[in-house]
Amino acid sequence: MPAISFQSVSKVYASTGKHAPPPFKALDDVSFDIEEGEFFGLLGPNGAGKTTLISILAGLARASGGRVLVHGYDVQKDFVAARRHLGIVPQELVFDPFFTVREALRFQAGYFGLRHSDDWIDELLDGLGLSDKAGANMRQLSGGMKRRVLVGLALVHKPPVIVLDEPTAGVDVELRQTLWQFISNLSRRGHTVLLTTHYLEEAEALCQRIAMLKLGRVIALDRTSALLAKAAAKVLHFKTDDALPPALAAQARVTGRIVELPAPMAAEVEHHLAALREAGVRIEDLEIRKADLEDVFIQLMSGPAPAAVPALEHAQ
Ligand SMILES: Nc1ncnc2c1ncn2[C@@H]1O[C@H](COP(=O)(O)OP(=O)(O)OP(=O)(O)O)[C@@H](O)[C@H]1O
Ligand SMILES: [Mg+2]
Repeated sequence: MPAISFQSVSKVYASTGKHAPPPFKALDDVSFDIEEGEFFGLLGPNGAGKTTLISILAGLARASGGRVLVHGYDVQKDFVAARRHLGIVPQELVFDPFFTVREALRFQAGYFGLRHSDDWIDELLDGLGLSDKAGANMRQLSGGMKRRVLVGLALVHKPPVIVLDEPTAGVDVELRQTLWQFISNLSRRGHTVLLTTHYLEEAEALCQRIAMLKLGRVIALDRTSALLAKAAAKVLHFKTDDALPPALAAQARVTGRIVELPAPMAAEVEHHLAALREAGVRIEDLEIRKADLEDVFIQLMSGPAPAAVPALEHAQ
C-alpha cells in the first residue's frame, strides 16, 4: 500500500465577492503515489500548486475532484486516521505567541492523545538544536528558530509520513544542514518524506523520486537519476562582458556575467567555443560541468504548455 496516493486530484478556487478574480484551476488531474519509506520531492515554480496539494493532503483544503489516501485512509472520509499518520511542516509560520516552545510541543502531543511524551520532546529539542530555547516564548524566537519549532510540532506524534513545505526557506546554512541530518535520519528509520523546495541541489541530494508541477499539472515524474539523465549531458560555464552571438544567446542562461550553455554532446562544446571565438567574445573562467537538476527544471519549465504525464501506478 502506498504511503500517499493522489488520485486525479483537482482544485478550483472559486470566485468570491464582486471584485474577486474569476475561478482559478490550481490543480488539474494530479495522480501519483509515494511509496512507504520513500524520500520524494515535489518541485515547481511559485504558484505551481504545491502548497495547494499539501493543504488537500493535510485536510485543510477540499479537493474539487479526485481523492487522496494516506496509508489507505481517505483524507476527507477518514480525516482523524489519515491525519494521525501525517506530520506536516507548513510553509507559513503560524503560532500561538503565548506558548513556550515546550508548551507548544506538549499541547500538540496532547492533541494527538499522547500523554507521556517528554522524553521524545527532549529528543526533538536536542535534534533540532532548540534545547536552550525550550522555555522561551514563541514570539522571542528568530524566524529560523520558529521554523525549527514547526518541524518539532509536525513530528511530536511520531507520524510515519512527514511532509515538509519549503522547510529551509529563510534558514541559514548551518541550520539547513542540521535539519537535513535530522530528516535524513528519520528517512533512514523508515519514515516516508514528501518535500517541496526551491533549492534544487537539496532535492537532487535527498530525493529518490521527483515530481515536477507546472500550472497545476504533473509534467515530469521519475527517479532523480532518470530525470538527470534526460538533461543535456554537459553545461559550458564561463564569464564574459561581451554580447553573445544570437544563435548562442537563444540557448544561454545568463546570470550577470555568468553564462551557461547546454551541450548535449561533446561536439557541441567545440561548436560553442568556435562560435564564441568567431564572434570575438572574450571568456574567462571556463568550466565544463555535468548537468544538474536545475538544468532539468529550467528545460522542463521553459517547454511548451504542459501536457499531464499519464497517471503512474506505484512507479518505482
Ligand atoms: N485561497 C486561494 N484562493 C485563490 N487562489 C489561490 C488560493 N491559494 C492559492 N491560490 C492560487 O493557486 C495557485 C497555486 O498556489 P500554491 O500556493 O499552491 O503554489 P505553490 O506551488 O505552493 O507556490 P510557492 O512556490 O510560491 O509556494 C496560485 O496561482 C495561487 O495564487
Ligand atoms: Mg507553496
